[in-house]
Amino acid sequence: MKKDPIILGIETSCDETSAAVLCGDKLLSNIISSQIDIHRRFGGVVPEIASRNHLTAVLPVIDEALNTAGIKKTELDAVGVTYGAGLVGALLVGVSAAKAFAYSLGIPVYAVNHIEAHIAANYISAPELKPPFLAVVASGGHTGVCLVNGINEFKMLASTSDDAIGEAFDKVARAVGLPYPGGPEIDKRAKLGTPNIVFIDPKNKRKDGALSYSGLKTAVVNYLHNVEQRGERPDINDVCASFQKTAVELLTDTAISVAKETGIKTIVAAGGVSANSYLREKLCADGEKIGCTVHFPPMSLCTDNAAMIAVRTRDMIAGGVPPAGLDLNAASYLKIGGV
Ligand code: KG4
Ligand code: ZN
Repeated sequence: MKKDPIILGIETSCDETSAAVLCGDKLLSNIISSQIDIHRRFGGVVPEIASRNHLTAVLPVIDEALNTAGIKKTELDAVGVTYGAGLVGALLVGVSAAKAFAYSLGIPVYAVNHIEAHIAANYISAPELKPPFLAVVASGGHTGVCLVNGINEFKMLASTSDDAIGEAFDKVARAVGLPYPGGPEIDKRAKLGTPNIVFIDPKNKRKDGALSYSGLKTAVVNYLHNVEQRGERPDINDVCASFQKTAVELLTDTAISVAKETGIKTIVAAGGVSANSYLREKLCADGEKIGCTVHFPPMSLCTDNAAMIAVRTRDMIAGGVPPAGLDLNAASYLKIGGV
């Protein structure tokens, strides 16, 4: 029997430097060094600072991942790395490190699409999960519903026409004075508030079911200005609860419509916003109502990590996807499924 390849995954697309080692279904290590504290004082990720911090962190993080896994460099069979989407300077650090490892060890390097990897994170906690299924993509840069028809077949069936849901969480958090990253802060504040503010009149919801987050963000900002102009103070907890409910339901309603249209009975969530407590609650409840099974990655695998990169690499290898050449470059924008 052929042995499972031992894979090193590397992730540096935004503000987390991460490396993981995977062998078959066994995740041997997943080390994450976060830069959140560094970027918080700027209210968001500063690309130049992110790249420089990835440079200092990447080799120690890879060493720690190998040591924790008890694997020597020479035992690795393949390297997988996020090459997009993300911040180009940040991506280049991981891509360069991966190419150097692959070249010096004489092993292949696989170019991993970050969002496909977020979806693949579900295979770690649910090894029984098999396509076809729908993935509700909810990250800082992408939002929509993806049909996963095979381990290497991804097709977006619905996407946002402007901002991503995570971007909206972060921008609204900033508008109400909460620190970066805004998503978890809004999640916490929403638990203390009541969703009693109507930011989008249901009558004005787009009839074609298309997703859009920029209008919602502007509606929150306008609401805050109006309250201020009246000399009043907004109730931040209610603003957070109302925004979160609207933002999440836009996406879960779309996911449920797609599930009904396609008749697919399994739904997974993917990306940082899948850590959101209301998204988890609402998608499970609505999915169950139409007879769907709903999976979520564990909280630690919702936001950026290299375990998902290693898993995605494993599936690319299993599906015969060719490795990249040593001319692999970073891509700031990438479509899911390459279309
Ligand atoms: O997937 P991710 O780690 O990075 C990208 O690929 O973009 O997602 C980051 C996003 C940020 O916008 C962050 O605010 C959001 O995920 N996020 C959350 C929560 N945790 C992280 N949004 C809402 N609720 C949360 N609990
Ligand atoms: Zn991500």
